[in-house]
Amino acid sequence: MLVTGGAGFIGSNIVDTLLEKEHKVVVLDNLSSGKKENINKKSKFYKADVFDRKNVSAIFKKEKPDVVIHNAAQIDVRVSVADPFFDAKINILGAINVLDSCVKTKVRKVIFASSGGTIYGECDVSAPNEESKLNPLSPYGIAKNSVENYIKFYSAVYSLDYTILRYGNVYGPRQDPYGEAGVIAIFATKMLRGKDINVFGDGKQMRDYVYVSDVVNANLKALNKGKNQIINVGTSKAVSVNRLLEVMSNAIGYSKKAVYKPKREGELFKSFLNIDKAKKVLGWMPKTCIEKGIKKTIEYFKMGNK
Ligand SMILES: NC(=O)c1ccc[n+]([C@@H]2O[C@H](COP(=O)([O-])OP(=O)(O)OC[C@H]3O[C@@H](n4cnc5c(N)ncnc54)[C@H](O)[C@@H]3O)[C@@H](O)[C@H]2O)c1
Repeated sequence: MLVTGGAGFIGSNIVDTLLEKEHKVVVLDNLSSGKKENINKKSKFYKADVFDRKNVSAIFKKEKPDVVIHNAAQIDVRVSVADPFFDAKINILGAINVLDSCVKTKVRKVIFASSGGTIYGECDVSAPNEESKLNPLSPYGIAKNSVENYIKFYSAVYSLDYTILRYGNVYGPRQDPYGEAGVIAIFATKMLRGKDINVFGDGKQMRDYVYVSDVVNANLKALNKGKNQIINVGTSKAVSVNRLLEVMSNAIGYSKKAVYKPKREGELFKSFLNIDKAKKVLGWMPKTCIEKGIKKTIEYFKMGNK
């Protein structure tokens, strides 16, 4: 197996579980947001950029992976808005480069980390399923949508099998608490230090928060199921920022009131995912409720991890 972005939050959690299950794992990561200490010592690590054609091609030729789990990406929606060129370079061209190498070295399957949280746009009363109309509003979402289409092209023309997993808002140990994404990681580290919590807007905005171990399990199931399918990976529950604050304050014993700031332009009000297909096709269900996932995440950050 080869995991791009295997030094990052989700990728490194996937790598650890693959190794526990006795798979041989190669990690390809440029360490731009991933960390050396996340890289499992039992994996073989290449510090490389997915955009680097020569290097990626040489690594694939040498390692001949059976399955590629493509996680490497610039993950900040606001960076994509500020610099669409940079976002497309990593998130579209980098992905095409990986797909090219998959075809050349006859990879059996590619599993792609797409984004249900950005690809559907604003959600209504019912959660979107995989057939719902797409409306990506940011360059980040547009890039995920494009790569999904490229993958379908590579599958149709070069018979590369795939499973595309559209994640909700993933949270848990190793998420970067300093970025723009990852509100649970940001709140956890701030609350544990007794710092103020800023909320942009009225806190009623809702997201589908899915715990990282559940996302790892969806990837494991996708190794042998869900051939050439696009599958939402979330909880089907929309949780507000105010509810997160309540659960997290109680768990940590944090008593400060949040500081409400003006709403961020372009931010969605509601995003959540219908997960019926994941249940049917992958036999997958999220096992971690928000209270339990938050507790585990807080324990991780309490241990001094950042
Ligand atoms: N975290 C979420 O809520 C979420 C939701 C939907 C989709 N995703 C997707 O899941 C994947 C993993 O995200 P994450 O949250 O673990 O983020 P992350 O930033 O922790 O992981 C991304 C990894 O990719 C590496 N990387 C970035 N640019 C690279 C490049 N040019 N070449 C090689 N490696 C590079 C980084 O160093 C990092 O290790 C991404 O594709 C992301 O878009 C994440």
